[in-house]
Formats: sequence, structure tokens, C-alpha cells
Amino acid sequence: MHSSFKIQTQNMKLKATQSNIKSIETEQIILGHFQDQKDNALIKELPAEVQSQLTARVKNEDFTGKSGQVQNLYADNGQIFTVVGLGKSDKLTATALYDTTHKVIKGIASSRVNSVANFLPLIDAKNIDAEMAVKLVTLASAHAEYRYEDTKSFKKDNKHKIKSMEVALSDAQQDAFKQAKAMAAGVKTARHLGNNPPNICNPAYIAKYATKIADKYDNCEITVLNHKQMKKMGMGALLAVGQGSANKPKMVVLKYNGGNKDDAPIALVGKGITFDTGGISLKPGANMDEMKYDMCGAATVIGGFVSAVELGLPINLLTFVPAVENMPDGKAYRPGDVITSYSGKTIEVLNTDAEGRMILCDTLTYSQEFKPSVVLDFATLTGACIVALGHQASAVMTKTPELADDLKQAGLQTHDRVWELPLWDEYQKQLDTSFADMQNIGGFPAGTITAGCFLSRFTEGQKWAHVDIAGTAWNNKKAGATGRPVAMLVQYLINESQK
Ligand code: BES
Ligand code: MN
Ligand code: ZN
Repeated sequence: MHSSFKIQTQNMKLKATQSNIKSIETEQIILGHFQDQKDNALIKELPAEVQSQLTARVKNEDFTGKSGQVQNLYADNGQIFTVVGLGKSDKLTATALYDTTHKVIKGIASSRVNSVANFLPLIDAKNIDAEMAVKLVTLASAHAEYRYEDTKSFKKDNKHKIKSMEVALSDAQQDAFKQAKAMAAGVKTARHLGNNPPNICNPAYIAKYATKIADKYDNCEITVLNHKQMKKMGMGALLAVGQGSANKPKMVVLKYNGGNKDDAPIALVGKGITFDTGGISLKPGANMDEMKYDMCGAATVIGGFVSAVELGLPINLLTFVPAVENMPDGKAYRPGDVITSYSGKTIEVLNTDAEGRMILCDTLTYSQEFKPSVVLDFATLTGACIVALGHQASAVMTKTPELADDLKQAGLQTHDRVWELPLWDEYQKQLDTSFADMQNIGGFPAGTITAGCFLSRFTEGQKWAHVDIAGTAWNNKKAGATGRPVAMLVQYLINESQK
């Protein structure tokens, strides 16, 4: 296993098609049709035998264009034309377009078809603009084509892989397509890291993987701090979490220089707990395996880094990943311990399962030494976040309202949405203790917010936002890592680069 170590970005080649539907040569062609669409220019260009099949289907009401209907039609030369029903043109939602595309491509991905042309971005939907349409279709297609096989001995043969997808675009959609393609590469990276098991994807693996990324691209550098170096520096909170594990902590710093030399960098911080047992405050056994996903914040920022570099964004980017395993052990940190963080502030550990904030606080302090214009952290930080927002939105917390607006906007542009929770000072007192500057848990009420409050104590005076992705980074055991919110993050970086 893993004898050949390759970084995962894209298998299926995505390219803008130069051809129209008449001259397209791929094995399968996908096009959309609305229930209330009077004349569909694309359909008029289909081969005569395909049109007559469709007319027959329409006549006997097998195909009406209702949302979710998928009609395959066969040309004499062997090409398959797939007409996808999209419902009424003023009713199509972003979710429906994404899900429908996903379903169709998933089907093709398990067939023997290798080359596909996708005309779905050309649809004229009332509530989805042209840029959004191409992003949704591209991201959904790439998502559907991904198949986790890293640790399977039986791998499906190459015949069951879509090798290339040509995407039909208007001139106005070219940029959005490039962006979506780069987002898809980042999403794939994040899903790979998230899905790999904790005995493989440990702190050393993350460091090695990030090194491969830095080697692959120009303008990139990497620094990896080991636990001895971090000990010398005084990263007490981060090291406390890792001290029960045989897999020693690493601090990975990826740097991309795409901007001017003296542009302040954008700093990204991602929680990289490669496995969270809870430590001495041990988690219950049921579903504990899902805590392999507790490094999805790290996966998000590494994925976002890959996308930004692929796009060649004119920004300077610094990506910080504290990679640590939280295990119970004779050497593990314990409830009651008082730890001195890298900032000098002391923390009373009341629950060793509130470990994410412990590794993040030292990393946030460290990141600010590089004088960033803004710091964003991403973390599967609290179960309470799933209670608050479910699996639909990531939670954003910040003391800079414009930053919350910028992140919300980026989420809307990619349908990878975030919702704000308040970081009011009134919540801070839940972290008071008699034995240190603060305790590491805030009790039952507002668990996501008090975690954010804890982090805010290490980012005073810095433009900063915390994004809790506990509900969005993975779906369930089977579907695995989603790659969220890489698309939102990359859109934010694109928007910043254009300011
Ligand atoms: N990684 C977990 C949060 C989590 C749990 C995310 C389940 C997704 C699903 C985090 O380290 C944690 O254990 N948080 C505790 C905090 C509590 C001890 C204050 C939690 O949410 O229970
Ligand atoms: Mn935990
Ligand atoms: Zn955790």
C-alpha cells in the first residue's frame, strides 16, 4: 500500500470544449432541458435519429423535462445523448442542479464510457447565473467522478473511469470554469487527505504530502517544525495534546509567493488532528472512527493552497497546519493540567477532548509573527456546530463584520455556504477559572461560540475569522470527506485577489 506516493489532484481531465454539439466526438453527451422550454437550440442540432427518439419519448410522456428525469438516446454512430430534465426554469435551485449533475455523472462513471461532453453549463435558469451554473456543474462532475480506492486491494479497472470531460461554455463562462477546475483539484486533495485512515494519514504523512505539493509547484516553499523545535519555541498547548501519542506532532507551513514581495500574506490555519480519541477524556466507542476526519481543517487549507497555486493567484499565501494525534496514554495530558501556551497565556485543561483549540491557539499566535493581512482558521472544532447548523452550512465567527460578509458571499458564489454565529463578549466569562488565565471548555451553552471565544483570545488586534466545519467536512461514514469548504475558501481568495 502506498508504495507509489502521488499527490491527488485530478484524474478526469476537464477542458473547455471547442466543438458545438453537432461536431462533438465524445462517447456521451449531456444536455439539459426544462419542462417549460419551448425551443431548445441544442436539441435541434442533434442527429435526426436522436431527435426522433426524443419526440417519441415526449409524445408518450416518458420524458417531460420534469426535474430528475434522465433520458438516454442513441445515435447511429454509437454516441449516447443524455437529456436531463431540470423542471421549470424558474424553479431550478443550485442544490437541484448540483445533485442532478452528480447523479448523472455518477452513473456514467460506473459505465464503460470514457469521454463525456457536458452542455449543462449552457442552461438558462432564472435563479442561477451563468458563472454559478458552470461552477456547480464542474464541481458536481468532479465530485461524482472521485472514487476512494487508496486502501482497497480490489480496484475497479480503468475502463470504469471517465478519462476526460469537455465542458461547453459561453465566452463569459471561461474564467469561472478555470476557477471551478482549480477548486475541484483542491477539493480532491482535501477528500484524499480526509478519507485516508488515521494509521496512514498521521502527522508525518501530512508533512510528507505537503512537501510533495511544495516540490510540484513553482513559487512554493515549505517548512516543517518537529516537536523538539516546537518545544524550544514554547508551543506548550499544541505539544500537550500530542504528548500521549507515538506519532509526534508536526507543524507544517506551506508558503506561496504569487503576490508582490511586500504584500502582506493571507494566513490560513487548519486543525490537523489526525485522530481524536478524546484523550484521557475518552470519547465513547460508537463512531469513534469518524474522528479520522478531525484533520479536515488541515485538508481544507492544503486543498485551498493547491487551488490558489493552480490558479496562480496574485497573492502571498501562508498555510499553517498543526498536525497532531490526540491519544490517551501514561504520558498524555490530563484534566486539571495547567498549560502555558506559546502566547504565554495559561490554560486549565478541563477536558482533553477540547484539543482542537489547544493546537490552534499556538498556531494562531505563530501565524501572526508573519504579519498577515488576515488570518482564517478552519476546524472540525465542536459537535455543537452540527447541532446548530446541521450539515448545510459551516459556522463563521469573527469580530470583523466585513470579513463575515466576504466569507458569506464566497459561500453563496460556490454554493458552499457559511452562516455567522456571534462572538459577543458576554460569552467570554464561560471560560473563567480560578486556576489559570482561562479554561479550555465553556460548558454546555453555545459550545461552538465559546470555542470561538477561546480562539479570539489569541488573535486580539488581528483581522481574523474562525470557521467551524464539523458539520460540513464529511457527510457520513460511507460518503466520506466532502472537500468542503475548499470551494468557498478559494472563492474568497479569488475575490481578495481582485480587490
Ligand atoms: N473533533 C471534535 C469535534 C467534533 C465531534 C466534530 C463530533 C465533529 C463530530 C472536538 O475535538 C471535540 O471533541 N469537541 C468537544 C468539545 C467539548 C469537550 C467542549 C465536543 O464537541 O464535544
Ligand atoms: Mn476532541
Ligand atoms: Zn477534535
